[in-house]
Amino acid sequence: MAKKIAGFDIGGHALHIAVSTKKGVKKAVAEILPDGSVRDGRIVSYDALGDFIKQTCKKRKVRFDEAAVILPAGLCFCRRIKTPVMSHEQLTVNLPYEFRDFITAEKDAYFYDYAVLNVINNDEGEPAELDIMAAAALKSTLASYRGMFRRAGIKLRTAIPIEMAYTNVIRKFCADENHCHCIVDLGHTAIRLYMYNGLMFESSHLIEYGCSAFDDAIAEALHIDPFIASSYREANHDDCQSLPECMSVYQSLAAEIQRVIYFFRYNNPDSELQHIHLVGGGAKILPLRETLEQTLSVSVLDASEFLSTEGVDAELGLAAAGAALQ
Ligand SMILES: Nc1ncnc2c1ncn2[C@@H]1O[C@H](COP(=O)(O)OP(=O)(O)OP(=O)(O)O)[C@@H](O)[C@H]1O
Ligand SMILES: [Mg+2]
Repeated sequence: MAKKIAGFDIGGHALHIAVSTKKGVKKAVAEILPDGSVRDGRIVSYDALGDFIKQTCKKRKVRFDEAAVILPAGLCFCRRIKTPVMSHEQLTVNLPYEFRDFITAEKDAYFYDYAVLNVINNDEGEPAELDIMAAAALKSTLASYRGMFRRAGIKLRTAIPIEMAYTNVIRKFCADENHCHCIVDLGHTAIRLYMYNGLMFESSHLIEYGCSAFDDAIAEALHIDPFIASSYREANHDDCQSLPECMSVYQSLAAEIQRVIYFFRYNNPDSELQHIHLVGGGAKILPLRETLEQTLSVSVLDASEFLSTEGVDAELGLAAAGAALQ
């Protein structure tokens, strides 16, 4: 039987799991995390979350052989670099130096990994440079993640940065190498843009507020507690997602996304960015989507270009699916 890989994406609000085989993504589930499990992108108790993962897999009948998890941006540095052609051993020695401006602890405290995106030939047609996606994470972080999955009774095969997860889905499902992608993750705690030129990750951009910021707008407008505002927002109680206070936050967000798109176009004059893809739970907020459609200079699409399996929510499960394809 084909091996089943599960991809785990632990967000600030929900746990997303996708299961794939060689043939594609078969299943995706999302389960809201217990309150206070993840704070500022960091897991508060690895043991408690390990138990939650175990219960979720059992409850939602998620069955698989091995697992891959996405490491959040705060716990993992990811860089695109160019180096002269060299062996794996030479790269292993050199990678720590590529991260010296980013890492804060001793270089040996980190685990380094890389994927070669492209080999660039010189004028004589011989391999001259390597175009590499490199990542670094604290060994102690990886050990905590391994321990959490062990507690859940799961064999963790790998941990990858989100940039790599989206690279996997683009490579698997988008054959056109000349096509630019901008994936906009409308998350709970932040909004993140990931730009891809063809199959290559180009850059990312962080907007430091997510859908939870709409709760503050609703709370202020209706004079209610932000916690209640959050349940109002999710259920779109009394059409609160369309309150003028929310629309004004959507407008600022649209302006910020537009700035990132202009910047990408300026830096990549030969690339053609024609549309963006919305993912994350915020993609379900219709007035937000409409504001983006009306304001941005590019068209706004969902995630079905990447993932169109029946019964799989592509918006919520795309990152987890990318991990499962690793
Ligand atoms: N159907 C829906 N209608 C309205 N809002 C929704 C819906 N589904 C999810 N959301 C909201 O979208 C937001 C983002 O959800 P998502 O599952 O992407 O969060 P997350 O991945 O845990 O967050 P992050 O990526 O920031 O860590 C949440 O605030 C959630 O309440
Ligand atoms: Mg998320």
